[in-house]
Amino acid sequence: MAITYDESKKIFTLTTNNSEYQMKVDDIGLLLHTYYGKPVYGTDMSYQIVPVDRGFSGNLYEYRMDRGRSIDTLPQEFSGCGMGDYRISSVAVKAKNGSRTCDFRYKSHSIKEGKPSIPGLPSVRPCDDEVSTLVITLEDRLTGLEAELFYSVFMDKDIITRHTRFVNASDNGMILEKAASMMLDLQYGEWDEIHFAGRHCMERSVQRNRLSQDIRVISSKRGMSSHHQNPFVILCDHTATEESGSCFGMMLMYSGNHKTEIEQDQAGAVRIVSGINDENFSWNLKSGESFDTPEVIMAYSAIGLSALSHLYHRIIRENVCDRKYLDMKRPVLINNWEATYFDFNSDKIIDIAKTASELGVEMMVLDDGWFGKRDDDNSGLGDWLVNERKLPGGLRRITDEVTKMGMKFGLWFEPEMVNEDSGLFRTHPEWALRDPGRNPNLSRNQMVLDMSNSEVVDYLFDCMKKVLDSADISYIKWDFNRSVCNVYSNALEPSRQGEVAHRFMLGTYSLLDRLTKAYPDLMIEGCAGGGGRFDAGMMYFCPQIWCSDDTDAIERLEIQEGTSFGYPVSTMGSHVSAVPNHQTGRTTPLSTRGVVAMSGTFGYELDITKLTDEEKSTIKEQIKTFNRLYPLIQKGTYYRLSQGDQSEIYKAWEFVAPDGSEALINIVLKKSQANARIKNVHLKGLCADAMYRLEGTEQVLSGAALMYGGYAINLSSGDYSSAQLHFIKTT
Ligand code: GLA
Repeated sequence: MAITYDESKKIFTLTTNNSEYQMKVDDIGLLLHTYYGKPVYGTDMSYQIVPVDRGFSGNLYEYRMDRGRSIDTLPQEFSGCGMGDYRISSVAVKAKNGSRTCDFRYKSHSIKEGKPSIPGLPSVRPCDDEVSTLVITLEDRLTGLEAELFYSVFMDKDIITRHTRFVNASDNGMILEKAASMMLDLQYGEWDEIHFAGRHCMERSVQRNRLSQDIRVISSKRGMSSHHQNPFVILCDHTATEESGSCFGMMLMYSGNHKTEIEQDQAGAVRIVSGINDENFSWNLKSGESFDTPEVIMAYSAIGLSALSHLYHRIIRENVCDRKYLDMKRPVLINNWEATYFDFNSDKIIDIAKTASELGVEMMVLDDGWFGKRDDDNSGLGDWLVNERKLPGGLRRITDEVTKMGMKFGLWFEPEMVNEDSGLFRTHPEWALRDPGRNPNLSRNQMVLDMSNSEVVDYLFDCMKKVLDSADISYIKWDFNRSVCNVYSNALEPSRQGEVAHRFMLGTYSLLDRLTKAYPDLMIEGCAGGGGRFDAGMMYFCPQIWCSDDTDAIERLEIQEGTSFGYPVSTMGSHVSAVPNHQTGRTTPLSTRGVVAMSGTFGYELDITKLTDEEKSTIKEQIKTFNRLYPLIQKGTYYRLSQGDQSEIYKAWEFVAPDGSEALINIVLKKSQANARIKNVHLKGLCADAMYRLEGTEQVLSGAALMYGGYAINLSSGDYSSAQLHFIKTT
């Protein structure tokens, strides 16, 4: 059984193939967290709690004669607030009488097969996995606030998902001011935290820091999960490597304001609290109402970071993204953005599509600028009507041509935004988020629509439906090009304004949900100025997300590698673009741009009509190579082969078939050096006793030789050269 409850010891045990999670109800009803890690086969781990009477750590009334037991030091499963646990709280609540304390105690629990969905929010799909769910209800007897802690255990996938449902079981109203999804207390260990930070055009850089007695906060209040701090955090042994050490992952499945706090306390214990960012958050909970938090996907690996990444890659591919995309070949696409920006007409788009189709590209994506009055980025957002001046004959003319070429067609939208200079804003100024009487902050000269207002969501659905019904459109690129502020909804009463940021996300998710249900064959690629909403919440609706607006192949090495810690390559939108690169001015070989972009969903974003014949034939070959290697790249196990070594002048990574039958090594020279060292790459995941032939050569080597000895590569000199080596098992 994945979930058991030992009534005599009052122990809950959640078991996956390679991990165990344990909680215990103590004699006064506190729910203690006693263990998470490698299986301990049901041993009651509460022996690890050593009572210490620490000064200034007070005692609950029942513990007053037992001063070693303080809620300030006990490892708890989900803390209350204001009762003397001075570490980070998982809840903040204001009762009707103004009181701000909450003392959660065990009330009841249930264990069921399967996994319920979370109303209004994306959550990990149970699919046909063996999943069971434990719900533990905690209650604060004074205020009547209940916290239902949901745990769903994916036994074979080594994943536990968690979320919390807060229920007002009292007769009075109350206000939630913090509502965490999960909390995790670890009593012992020397830990590093790893998070993925960045900026527009450089998302998800790996940040690894040793914990000390302080509080680390990884968060966003930008109304989006953000380029700046991804909602994915790893806690690992200070000595953990790609292949060794305990690693815990916590990935919040949410695209809005988030916050993960990590505190190392006075005793060296670590507490992690994760959920919606509580800054400017409040939620009115009337009698009988409930509030569901986003879900956290938790994983544990006892054997280092690579294995942790593999757990996330699998659960995201199989249970977060819609299953129908698991085996569906994603189209190699061409996007006109970096080719034309706003300067295009139908003929230009058809020309690009024609050349691209001759080279094997499978989909033409028309980016920003096809609608309203949109000749630059100062106007038009909100007016989702084709600009017939630019595109005479409408979209239909283009899609008819593109379809004749045997290609699919995709279209860009930025649904949640509006320009001041737009018909929509002139008609409905109250639909923009803005404080009454105050000019809003503009970013890219645009405002944010009030997605918490269902009228706005209905309007957007109708507009998008009209466009989608007007032509043969198989794909949408869903963009979001600014951070959110002036978070005030003109449709909500003043006392509920603290709810707007979360209600915004619920509105966006509901629009995505309606569209994916109304158009089951439509694929939506997420985007937010590149990877500003690269999170599991969006992945529920969008099987791929544009990884970054930085298309420079060398910068992409870092971006895609950082992204790979939590997310599989099948989610990473990645294109070959022109040189000199539009973001960095760097010139890299077309072959290297191909190698890097192929480790993603693959496409092109340049004016293909202007390329030389030689370049075109290289592209033709790249597409053939990608299509041939597609199953290995998209479904193979991904290994980082050069992570962490800052002095490394190469970046290398590998895809290996799950059965070890083939492997693809990718290696890129980041910096040319005279008289440079040879790079010896140690392959991973091969069958040690099998023989492998290097494709295109007669060289045959054992898996053991390739893994333990390595394969030495001397890349050609010259800037940013690269190689792809394909090893195929012969015996
Ligand atoms: C964002 C996207 C780009 C492009 C532009 C269009 O920056 O990330 O790929 O679509 O918007 O305005």
